[in-house]
Amino acid sequence: YQAQLDLSDIEKGTYPYYMLKEIDEQPAVMRRLVQEYRQADGEIHIDSALVSELAASDRVYIVACGTSSHAGWAAKRFFEELTQIPVEIHLSSEFGYNLPLISKKPFFIYLSQSGETADSRQVLVKTNELDYPALTITNVAGSTLSREADHTLLLYAGPEIAVASTKAYTAQIAVMALLATAVGRTKGLAKATNFPVFQELGIVASAMESIISEKSHFSDLTAEYLTATRNAFYIGRGNDYYVSMEAALKLKEISYIQAEGFAAGELKHGTIALIEEGTPVIGIITDEVTGSHTRGNLKEVESRGAKTLVIASEALAKVGDQILLPQVHPYLTSLLAVLPTQLLAYYATLQRGYDVDKPRNLAKSVTVE
Ligand code: G6P
Repeated sequence: YQAQLDLSDIEKGTYPYYMLKEIDEQPAVMRRLVQEYRQADGEIHIDSALVSELAASDRVYIVACGTSSHAGWAAKRFFEELTQIPVEIHLSSEFGYNLPLISKKPFFIYLSQSGETADSRQVLVKTNELDYPALTITNVAGSTLSREADHTLLLYAGPEIAVASTKAYTAQIAVMALLATAVGRTKGLAKATNFPVFQELGIVASAMESIISEKSHFSDLTAEYLTATRNAFYIGRGNDYYVSMEAALKLKEISYIQAEGFAAGELKHGTIALIEEGTPVIGIITDEVTGSHTRGNLKEVESRGAKTLVIASEALAKVGDQILLPQVHPYLTSLLAVLPTQLLAYYATLQRGYDVDKPRNLAKSVTVE
């Protein structure tokens, strides 16, 4: 595959908004990551000093803000499975002032599209003082967080202009998959050795393309479910819950619909009180173990008046599901499940008449604490 991406291209071209262009670029970003990280011998091109330092650690601390922190969540499960190292995700603005008990051999990963977020930087300054090893995963070579960490991995996503982050989120998850596979292989772990990461990312790229090619479908669904609502819920379990958090953030930040990403099973312990006649509840179902439970939760809200919409992997789909996701490796479902939610947020914003790329009160890069 040739990546169809021109890094110097920061023109919108024929796109009405950068966000739509950046959503569309995601398959190309996946393919570009494969190109950038695949060595001639088929192995993963990541500095061996970084890989062995990580392999020797007893716990990984991911520190990030906003969408980048959600990418950390989306990577947690496969990272733990592939490396057998426990992973914690922390919000920078919390971590800096409430340092948890740190393990004996910690390794810090800073996820930051811009590499400039002040909240994350203040934690990095602290962990540097404590001499803890740190890696920054960023879209911007030479950025502050990149310069101040011991190691850097790049996202190769090209400039992200829209305030709402899309391709940086999926690129961060993909780079975490490459890193986890490299670390697991160094540790001789069968799960990592047997995980054909490049091939699987290629499958994700094609699957992304098939979703993107159905844009008009998403525009119609948005009009039917979201455009006129004041609030909405995304629900799921495990990885589908983690994607729900990002899906809800996307909707909030640009369409101003009050949205919550919620653990499907936890709704009944209080939050279900918010369900009224017509409240949109979007269920994400990509996991065969938890999928039927999430369906049960959708039934519960439906019987209380909710208007439900289902995003499901093809293999788990039932008649009537509105959005189907082509099958990808179970580690990588978040990369795909997030895409329809980006499109729903985009169209909701468009249909509500707001500026997609420049939402009120927000900045692309926040350089104050
Ligand atoms: C800002 C942006 C968010 C972004 C967050 C973290 O709040 O509006 O879209 O997720 O910063 O940015 P970073 O560059 O560190 O990933």
